[in-house]
Amino acid sequence: MTASDALPLTGDRPAAGPEATAGAHRFPPGFLWGAATAAYQIEGAVAEDGRTPSIWDTFSRTPGKVFEGHTGEVAVDHYRRFREDVRLMADLGLSAYRFSVSWPRVQPSGRGPAVQKGLDFYRRLVDELLAHSIQPVATLYHWDLPQHLEDAGGWPERATAERFAEYAGIVADALGDRVGRFTTLNEPWCSAFLGYGSGVHAPGRTDPVAALRAAHHLNLGHGLAVQALRAGLPAGAEVSVSLNLHQLRPLTAAPEDLEAVRRIDAVGNRVWLGPMLSGAYPEDLLADTAHLTDWSFVRPGDPAAIHQPLDWVGINYYMPNVVSAARDGDGSAQHDGHGNSAHSPWPGADAVAFHQPPGERTAMGWSVDPSGLYDLLGRMTRDYPGLPMLITENGAAYEDAVGPDGTVDDPARTAYVRAHLEALHRAIADGADVRGYFLWSLMDNFEWAYGYAKRFGAVYVDYATQRRTPKATARWYARVARSGELPA
Ligand code: NOJ
Repeated sequence: MTASDALPLTGDRPAAGPEATAGAHRFPPGFLWGAATAAYQIEGAVAEDGRTPSIWDTFSRTPGKVFEGHTGEVAVDHYRRFREDVRLMADLGLSAYRFSVSWPRVQPSGRGPAVQKGLDFYRRLVDELLAHSIQPVATLYHWDLPQHLEDAGGWPERATAERFAEYAGIVADALGDRVGRFTTLNEPWCSAFLGYGSGVHAPGRTDPVAALRAAHHLNLGHGLAVQALRAGLPAGAEVSVSLNLHQLRPLTAAPEDLEAVRRIDAVGNRVWLGPMLSGAYPEDLLADTAHLTDWSFVRPGDPAAIHQPLDWVGINYYMPNVVSAARDGDGSAQHDGHGNSAHSPWPGADAVAFHQPPGERTAMGWSVDPSGLYDLLGRMTRDYPGLPMLITENGAAYEDAVGPDGTVDDPARTAYVRAHLEALHRAIADGADVRGYFLWSLMDNFEWAYGYAKRFGAVYVDYATQRRTPKATARWYARVARSGELPA
């Protein structure tokens, strides 16, 4: 959790073999080299084949919510261009691809029967991946709740968790014969706290109690969905979740700054890790939020329902956060990297300030600090020995431009990815059981409240023509993926 938590690691697992030794930067055999995307960010075709609006369609059409009124209506037209995109993945030498299934595309009203055409799209996509020897990793929920379910109360309501489990069963039946790895939720922290707390994400509500209720029902939805997936999938299928764990550093060693770290850790990290991996909400989180809610929406059987065995945990890492107790004049919560809002995305942790560390930043304003990834993997290895991990997202936005010769040179992104892979390599050599790395993102796409203004892709997309141009990082990453090691 802090710099002092650095590795070396101790755990039940034998130290990684000579493949993952410092210096050579060679990754273990079978390591997955992937890239990731999400349905609403790339597919477009929002009214095609029976799809109904998701909360992101509604939110992005609401004036003032997304940069310059951008929406995912066309996005990068992946719904039609998926074959071309799989060819790009093959050119990148990817051995895996993480995508998400759009809930309103396969179950438009969020309940009841599935739409075959929607499911067929994902079957065709997966078949195309398999034909190119790319292993699919399917995320069930990457933020596109059917608007029908939000109209019925959304994630703050228990029924949404139950609907999610039914939808998980539909996807297991439809894709279980060809997809070997599933994750339930992507970054539930964002769904609960940016969606219902600070309101910078869909559905744009700003109610801390609704945000905490949403957090619980996302946890419950995860647990029920894991059970539905296990029931519907063949033996050997892997089931997991992707969490954006916050690597926290105190501004100073003062007790009040360590207390700020504890509070953010509770509502940022242990609100998921506790119930999902240990079977209970942390006592300190319940105490921190007692003035907001008595958590009576947690029913007696819920902790056991949420606490399901997982085959690995997916970790999304971009940057660490520096926090302190709020002091007079602090611009509290302005540098947590999740957009400015008058409303806090951290229920129960109002007296905490976020600080921008000096040094390099990406176009998101996020600090570049690969040691945060190393420290985070150390913490997870110590706290959950024996639990494998995948880095399901890591990457950076920079201001890319097509040069006069038609190429896109993005040295800062290549340096970012390389530095994070070096940190990952060091963590593996020191005992972290990490089985794969997924670059965010395969290609430029709809970056939520930032619209198309922020480019995270390995592949550049000209939004006027939908022309795809692999950036220099893509060519570099292809070498890494093909050789399994970082070039000298
Ligand atoms: C987290 C999310 O999962 C993804 O959708 C987003 O585009 C990236 N991080 C970058 O912000």
